[in-house]
Amino acid sequence: MRFIVLGDMHYNVPTGPGLKTSRDIFFGGLFEQIAARTPDLVFAIGDTTDTGIIAELNSQTALAQRFGINLVRLMGNHDSDTLEKSEIAPFFLGDHQPVNEDAVYACFDSDATRFIMLDTTRSRSPDNWSGVVPDSELAWLADRIEEYNRTTSLRHLVVMGHHPLTNTTDRSDIEWLNIDNSEEVRAIFNKLTRTPGLYINGHNHTNSLAGPDAYGWHYAQMGAPLACRSYGMFDIDENGIRFETVDIDLGDPEFNKAYVTTRISMGDVFNYYPFEVMYGGSNDHRMEIPASKPVS
Ligand SMILES: [Fe+2]
Ligand SMILES: [Fe+2]
Repeated sequence: MRFIVLGDMHYNVPTGPGLKTSRDIFFGGLFEQIAARTPDLVFAIGDTTDTGIIAELNSQTALAQRFGINLVRLMGNHDSDTLEKSEIAPFFLGDHQPVNEDAVYACFDSDATRFIMLDTTRSRSPDNWSGVVPDSELAWLADRIEEYNRTTSLRHLVVMGHHPLTNTTDRSDIEWLNIDNSEEVRAIFNKLTRTPGLYINGHNHTNSLAGPDAYGWHYAQMGAPLACRSYGMFDIDENGIRFETVDIDLGDPEFNKAYVTTRISMGDVFNYYPFEVMYGGSNDHRMEIPASKPVS
C-alpha cells in the first residue's frame, strides 16, 4: 500500500487581491500531483489550516475532493487555535471516530499496518504552541502498542502526531517545538517489543529524519509544502516501509507563480529561513524501515 503525508499546509482564507486564485491554483495543483501518485491514503499532519475556522476547513475539503482526495487530517496547534476541538472534530481523522470528545485521536488497521493518529495539541492556546499528550491518551496509546505486540497479522506500526518528540528530528530540541511531556510518550513507545516503529510528525516545517533510536524507533518530520516544496510518500510491502520525499513539480510557469505568491503571502515568520535550510540535507529524504519482528 502507499500513503502520502502532507506537512503543515497552513491553508487560509486570503483577503488580498488575487490571493484566493493563487491559493486555489497552488493547492489544487498540489492535490492533482498527489492524486497522480495513486495513494491509498493521504494524511495531513496538522496545521492543515492557518486558524482552524470552518471556512478554511470547508474550502480545503472541497478543493481536495475536486481532485479525488479525502484528506485524513490530524490536529495541529493552528487548527485548534480558534474553535473548540469538538466543533472541528468532524473534519479530522477521515472516517474514524475520535476515541473521546476532549481529544481528536484514533487508531485503525489497514492490511498489515496499524495507524495510530495522536492529538498532541492544546485547545485554543495561540500563546503556547508546544505539544502535550494527556494521561488518558497516553494510557490509550500504551494499550494500542501492547495490542500490536501480540497481533500476529500486524507487521508495521505507524504512529503520527503533529509535534515531534524532543531530541529527535530537526529543531525538536527547541522550546515549544516538541511535545512537552516527550519523556512520558517515549516511555510508552519503549513498550514496543516487536520493533521497529515509525513516528511521523510536522510542526517544525523542515524536512528531517532521525533514528533508529536505542528502542528501535524511526522519526520522519514532514516539511511544510509551501516552505519545502515537497511532501512525504511511504510505500509498504511485506519487507517494510520505504519513505521518500517527493518534490512538487513547479515546472509550469503559472503554477510556479501561484506557488510563489501563496508562499510570500504567509509572511516573514513563515519565510524566515531560506529554502535550502527548510528542505534538509542529504540524509533527510529517504529511509527504509524493516517489517516488525514476528510474534514470538
Ligand atoms: Fe505549522
Ligand atoms: Fe504547529
